[in-house]
Amino acid sequence: MSANHDRVYFFDTTLRDGEQSPGCSMNIDEKLRLAAQLTTLGVDIIEAGFAIASDGDFEAVKAVATQIQGPTIASLSRCKREDIEAAGRALAPAKRTRIHLFLSCSDLHLEYKLRISREQALEQADEAVRLAGQVVDEVEFSPEDATRTDPDFLCKVVGVAINAGAKIINIPDTVGYTVPEEYAATFRMLREKVPGADKVIFSAHCHDDLGLAVANTFAAVQAGARQVECTINGIGERAGNAALEEIAAAIMVRPDKYPYSSNIVTTELFPTSQMLGDIISFRPSPNKAIVGANAFAHEAGIHQHGVLANPLTYEIMTPASVGVSHNNIVLGKHSGRRALEHRLHQLGFKLTREELDEVYHRFTQLADKKKNIYEQDLLALIRDEAAAVTLGSEE
Ligand code: KIV
Ligand code: ZN
Repeated sequence: MSANHDRVYFFDTTLRDGEQSPGCSMNIDEKLRLAAQLTTLGVDIIEAGFAIASDGDFEAVKAVATQIQGPTIASLSRCKREDIEAAGRALAPAKRTRIHLFLSCSDLHLEYKLRISREQALEQADEAVRLAGQVVDEVEFSPEDATRTDPDFLCKVVGVAINAGAKIINIPDTVGYTVPEEYAATFRMLREKVPGADKVIFSAHCHDDLGLAVANTFAAVQAGARQVECTINGIGERAGNAALEEIAAAIMVRPDKYPYSSNIVTTELFPTSQMLGDIISFRPSPNKAIVGANAFAHEAGIHQHGVLANPLTYEIMTPASVGVSHNNIVLGKHSGRRALEHRLHQLGFKLTREELDEVYHRFTQLADKKKNIYEQDLLALIRDEAAAVTLGSEE
């Protein structure tokens, strides 16, 4: 992977960070199916798992490395010889391989989790990057909990990793704590201060504990990061990771603010989201950006009128551009006459003004009692108006 000033590389970690979260575990066949779809979607790197974590994870990384052609295949690894060797064995069948090393670097993690000193952390990072470099094509290094790490020490450990041969430096906001200006400043600091920073690709990895994962990711990109780590539907530890579909859609919709290119085929966003929802035990919430069931739904009458006249009035992208087959005019108590007429027309009925007035009147009475009005409800309303409607039917 070489630096290209405006190209953003998508590193998908749905199969690793995503799979780590409750209700999201996947078996090997499911991981393979999703990995194939991620390839169609155009992601550049698939993090297929954490090879040392279990036999199942090892086999899954190996299966993805064996069967998936196109993206670089990565495995997560601690800065330990046994992890690196296991990752190397699992990844061996892939055309292009990456070990993603992580090592806690905040004082809090060093003291309470790893119980090692800063000096020991620097030694571990150096040795691990050198060893991993002998095993795979490229090494990515992540100082875990980077956003709560002392800035001078962060520069030091990143410098050690670069000097040892890491080609990608990922700055994880492990606990979703940072905010956009601060995260951007961290990337600017590293790029300015660390020797060799111009030779590597910086990467953003954001968790959504404050709901800022995608905003933080873009702040990093604007400060020079060129790899984004993300998951489909934003699944991941706790509140999740930055959602791939949101990053890709924002680049598509706002090239004026985000003038970057990527390999993502945006029409595959919704199909990929649906596939993941089928595989794990839940779908995104209905109001989830881009891929939620209501992302292109309109119930308010004024909005429906506008969308029917010109979709741009209330839609900033076409549903088709992200792979959704149609916008969804939902009939409910906020709907207007135009939306009802449109739906009846789709059902094959063309009403006179008086007929429409009458059906609309009864529709609003029904909508006051029922949350959603379905096709069969409309047909029942029409049946009640049978004589008049038969005259107006298009058939
Ligand atoms: O959030 C995190 O810190 C991680 C690392 C393993 C990169 O997922
Ligand atoms: Zn993470």
